[in-house]
Amino acid sequence: GMKRVQNPRSMQELGLEWRRQGLCVGLVPTMGYWHEGHLSLMRWAREHCDLLVASIFVNPTQFGPGEDLENYPSDIERDSALAAECGVDVLFTPCRDDMYLPGHGTWVNVPELTKNLCGRSRPGHFQGVATVVCKLFNLVQPTFAAFGEKDWQQVAVIRKMTRELDIPVRVEGRPIVRESDGLAMSSRNVYLTVEERAVAPHIQKGLCLLEGMVRAGERDCGALRKAVRDYYAAWIPSGVLDYLELVDPETIETVDHVRSDFLAAVALRLGKARLIDNKRINLE
Ligand code: PAJ
Repeated sequence: GMKRVQNPRSMQELGLEWRRQGLCVGLVPTMGYWHEGHLSLMRWAREHCDLLVASIFVNPTQFGPGEDLENYPSDIERDSALAAECGVDVLFTPCRDDMYLPGHGTWVNVPELTKNLCGRSRPGHFQGVATVVCKLFNLVQPTFAAFGEKDWQQVAVIRKMTRELDIPVRVEGRPIVRESDGLAMSSRNVYLTVEERAVAPHIQKGLCLLEGMVRAGERDCGALRKAVRDYYAAWIPSGVLDYLELVDPETIETVDHVRSDFLAAVALRLGKARLIDNKRINLE
């Protein structure tokens, strides 16, 4: 059966013991309130490891002032039942005070990858993410960890951190899971009103419009961005665009001319929710 572990030291003892035994351990780090996106990571990881660990921790250090830390949705009983169904062996649910002791002052930063997109609009966010993921890696001692490409910049940051700090964990990026109408699944979709939810699928549609224009020969990033901005203004009039950028998928730097392989990324505020989505566009 599934085991629930709260104490970070107990988690680390288990992780170190599994590593000594040479077992393949998969980790899926989350902040809970699971949807099909989370579950797809667990089902994929389950196929590739001996032991599967999922973590639920609403990491306070990755939330900025005025963000939704205190309102972040949670349903640990439901998540726990889903974890058991997905074949999770250990559900790691540390509490805040055990993860961050008073006076905590060590941080992991990946400045080159965090100047653009969410790093620009959420200062300090990726420092919190990189730090907590580094801690989770040290506690669970996984062979690999699976992350969703909905948070493309997050995967890039964690990959670079892992490589450059010589952390012996394989970082796996997995595709975006969507609702049937195309909206990228997110725990924050519960913040949407019925009206907001109805127009939210246009976020992805704008990215599809962009891809269509590129495939039809448009190479001017200014023209592409304007077309999508106009599309959002028409179809999601209540939305406030945070960013819409065309970037290099690895360096996350903005490109000004379309190349054979790039990423279109968007963040848009809709009511109480800040929604993100992206599309990899490869012309080869
Ligand atoms: P959270 O938002 O709970 O997401 C946990 C994992 O699920 C992340 O890897 C995220 O990219 C993935 N995910 C979320 N929605 C997805 C979707 N629609 N399709 C595919 N994957 C999806 O991301 C975090 O938590 C935190 O920043 C964390 C990495 C746990 C560090 O605190």
